[in-house]
Amino acid sequence: MLKHQLLLIALSLALSSNVYKAQSTVWLDQLDLSVATQGNGKPGINTSVDGKPLTIANEVFKRGFGTHAESSLLIKLNGKVKKFSALVGLDDEMKGQNPAAEFEIYGDNKKLWSSGIMKLGDKAKPVSISLEGIKQLELVVTDGGNGPYYDHADWADAKFETSDGAKLITFNPIASEPYILTPKPAPAPKINSAGVFGARPGSPFLFRIPATGDRPITFSAKNLPKGLTLDSQTGIITGKVDTEGTYEVVLNAKNTKGSASKKLKIKIGDRIALTPTMGWNSWNCFGHEVSADKVKRASDALIKSGLVNHGWNYINVDDSWQFNRDGKDPSFKGKMRDEDGYILTNSKFPDMKNLADYIHGNGLKMGIYSSPGPWTCGGCAGSYGYEKQDAESYAKWGIDYIKYDWCSYGGVIDGLPDNDPNKVSSLAFNGGGDLDKGVKPFKLMGNLLKQQPRDIVYNLCQYGMGDVWKWGDDVDAQSWRTTNDITDTWASVKNIALAQDKASAFAKPGNWNDPDMLVVGIVGWGNPHQSRLKPDEQYLHISLWSIFSAPLLIGCDLEKLDDFTLNLLTNDEVIAVNQDVLGKQGVCLQTIGELKIYVKDLEDGAKAVVFANFGREKVKMSYRDFKALGISGNQIVRDIWRQKDILKLNTVKGNLVLDIPAHGVAFYKFISK
Ligand code: GLA
Repeated sequence: MLKHQLLLIALSLALSSNVYKAQSTVWLDQLDLSVATQGNGKPGINTSVDGKPLTIANEVFKRGFGTHAESSLLIKLNGKVKKFSALVGLDDEMKGQNPAAEFEIYGDNKKLWSSGIMKLGDKAKPVSISLEGIKQLELVVTDGGNGPYYDHADWADAKFETSDGAKLITFNPIASEPYILTPKPAPAPKINSAGVFGARPGSPFLFRIPATGDRPITFSAKNLPKGLTLDSQTGIITGKVDTEGTYEVVLNAKNTKGSASKKLKIKIGDRIALTPTMGWNSWNCFGHEVSADKVKRASDALIKSGLVNHGWNYINVDDSWQFNRDGKDPSFKGKMRDEDGYILTNSKFPDMKNLADYIHGNGLKMGIYSSPGPWTCGGCAGSYGYEKQDAESYAKWGIDYIKYDWCSYGGVIDGLPDNDPNKVSSLAFNGGGDLDKGVKPFKLMGNLLKQQPRDIVYNLCQYGMGDVWKWGDDVDAQSWRTTNDITDTWASVKNIALAQDKASAFAKPGNWNDPDMLVVGIVGWGNPHQSRLKPDEQYLHISLWSIFSAPLLIGCDLEKLDDFTLNLLTNDEVIAVNQDVLGKQGVCLQTIGELKIYVKDLEDGAKAVVFANFGREKVKMSYRDFKALGISGNQIVRDIWRQKDILKLNTVKGNLVLDIPAHGVAFYKFISK
């Protein structure tokens, strides 16, 4: 009896000490937070995303995770984690702005808790949830429905209650090893130009034949219209054509390994940019650190890297070539305009005409940037009140493309306050959706550009306000941004991609929806870093921008291209889908879970199809719903990235095996046979 009692006492002591020992706390900040994906900056360990003490509504917290919407942190649990608790809110460091965000917690992909929309100044909200039986936890911060701007979000005092043997491992499920799919170009010549090129009668004509193959290549052309000449060494066609019409030209390229030819329709008429613009823009790469020297080097690098041989041909200067009131650099200062109101460049751009001549000498075109307000988004001199002089300057310098923003126009939409531009904020965005007042400044510049003695492609950058795709053509624009600024994160690319369908019906030759520039390679807006998109996400980004018929503007440092990035940008079959002369925009015709299937009709009767996996799980399935994609009969399925036929398909009896990585794509062409 005694023995028994002793045993029981011993057992209960052991158990209680076990329980005692087992109850322990693991702080979120003790886990590896670097694997979190977030909209901006780096995950803060016991700090805000800007590296300051975590502060919510004046309350300072010693421990926690400071992040930026859109944010996701995945944690594997092994069943021994009992509880999660935290205090959440927006960090005070963004005082003066209007961030909003929602904190959400998912357990095994089911929503367990949500904070509701939180604003700056809201008291930290407590959360305490049981994790019994949960294997995978996700801490999410969404943008609260107003874009991810200034959303500095804190998981303060975040911790887990665990029992003995608990394991918590953070992870990122998206594969990070780059892999190359684009085959190397053959040594024999191949001409990669689009099938059509448009210019206005009497305008200076410049077209560099893009061709791969060992150099030297000798170029020739049949049926070139009167007024044009071709340099046989460089493949650059110059001159001007006075007579309207469609000229069916045959381009030829020859080297010691062989020869190639390709038809090119030269359309002399009112419409230009008959295929989406392809080139480079300084913003995503250099931001305000841009200079004439860097732009010249980018122009040389476009050639040296071989990108030019695949059709990339614009070199566009973005913001900060003008006087900059907000920048501290003395080279931004000086006079804004001369006595007659003609704009002056800042000292980093000593001679714009010389720069344009240099770029043209390479057979490339040059773009520039301005805003209809008195200030650009970056605080540089805008065109307000001087639109005529600016359009004339662009023409005089030899500019071929203008990106025209909205920034600060909101501040003058009803006139210049007190006749003082300095009273206008650079970031006054209001009013852009007004179909009268919001359209007016774009119409004004559109008219002026058309009066210039050269073709200037006109790109509107007002982020889609007032459904710009419905009226962009009426103001003589060739392309228009549909969404807000892109950044090199998955959330940004995904949200922009998913917002494109609404405008798709308005894409046509000479009118393109612009989902913003590419974020592959070394980007950084002046703070260079490798794109934070994972390789599969980059394939998805390029594939979708191709099928969207989006203007393709590379946003990275062209002097530092790695093999993986070059592989993304030099796939002629991917580019051909984008440059197809029919000018349709691919749209999503089917959604299966997180898989979206985009289809684009091509001129040759084939269909390009992107199977885009927006989910975090691999998609493995046997696909047979070809009807939903408008595909029937016998087909050859060609893998566009690998440039290989992969399947002879009978759409009634057959199926297509899909095996698509998380955040990745399969990009196929279906050709009737
Ligand atoms: C806006 C545009 C960007 C860039 C900057 C320059 O934000 O959307 O693409 O041109 O202005 O300040």
